[in-house]
Amino acid sequence: MAAAEVGDDVYGDDPTVNALEARVAQLLGHEAGLFTPSGSLANQLAVRLLVGPGQELVCDEQAHVVRAELGAAATFSGITTRTWPSERGRVDVGRVAELIRPDAGPYLVSTAAIAVEDTHNFGGGTVQSLQAFRDLRALADQHDLRLHLDGARLWNAHAVTGVPLSVYGPLFDTVSVCFSKGLGAPVGSMLVSSAERIAAARVWRKRYGGGMRQVGILAAACDYALDHHLDDLAADHVRAKALGVALHEINPAVVDPEHVETNIVVVDLTPTSWSGADYTAAARDGGVLVQTLGATTVRLVTHRDLDDEATGTAAGVLADLLRT
Ligand SMILES: Cc1ncc(COP(=O)(O)O)c(C=O)c1O
Repeated sequence: MAAAEVGDDVYGDDPTVNALEARVAQLLGHEAGLFTPSGSLANQLAVRLLVGPGQELVCDEQAHVVRAELGAAATFSGITTRTWPSERGRVDVGRVAELIRPDAGPYLVSTAAIAVEDTHNFGGGTVQSLQAFRDLRALADQHDLRLHLDGARLWNAHAVTGVPLSVYGPLFDTVSVCFSKGLGAPVGSMLVSSAERIAAARVWRKRYGGGMRQVGILAAACDYALDHHLDDLAADHVRAKALGVALHEINPAVVDPEHVETNIVVVDLTPTSWSGADYTAAARDGGVLVQTLGATTVRLVTHRDLDDEATGTAAGVLADLLRT
């Protein structure tokens, strides 16, 4: 990062950012990329390009874009959202087909785009099937709808399926990816799409206050993460599975290890006397940071700063709490 060659990225002349944008666009089989400070901004730029004011974006009820981006699509872009019921975030093309209303006329809101997530965060790191994506593309084409992939953790899906990123990418009109999650960069996300859309996104990024100046120092970290950290994601998945197994052994109803597909474990505390918030607080007291997801659910995430020994320690603390 310290050695990164920098320029003013608002004018598009930071060579390190430009190189990263070209690299990631190519990786994902798209024409161009745009570096953003966050995954939320990359998603929101995408949906505003794909959906007009007063039109709707459809996604699953647990999607990050609808649950955890603070109503940005409505606030900034005048977009409404409708959702289909989600089972661990798994894409169900039949449900999407039932929900969409393209060209709804003068009475109902017309659907303009569909957004899906891979892996699925609140669904528990769920990996989507390539066939579901292909079917979704066919459905979208049939109805002239656009498709966005929130691929904040697409790297993790790729680590599991082995499907090349260049096969996933072109199935979608826009794809967002994050370097700041399992890949371990401190900051940074990217939106990829056609050159025309990315040029428009560049204008909106600046308008939203997301144009950064000598930001090659951050792009260098993302570049490093792509070079050195992709291959480590599989180890995070093994450790997450170990956490899931450890908790399952104490109480089989709180987590099904089969549902731990990547680096995320969603623990359902309903069969215990714990609330999500109390369990999170008790885990913190024991030196383990977890996230409260709901009244009786918490999320555990493994990452590259957690080795086997630390995973074992965390499993011990979290399992002991379930015994109380
Ligand atoms: C699936 C998904 N998409 C988008 C984001 C947003 O990323 P950021 O926190 O960089 O805005 C997250 C963050 O956790 C996420 O899990």
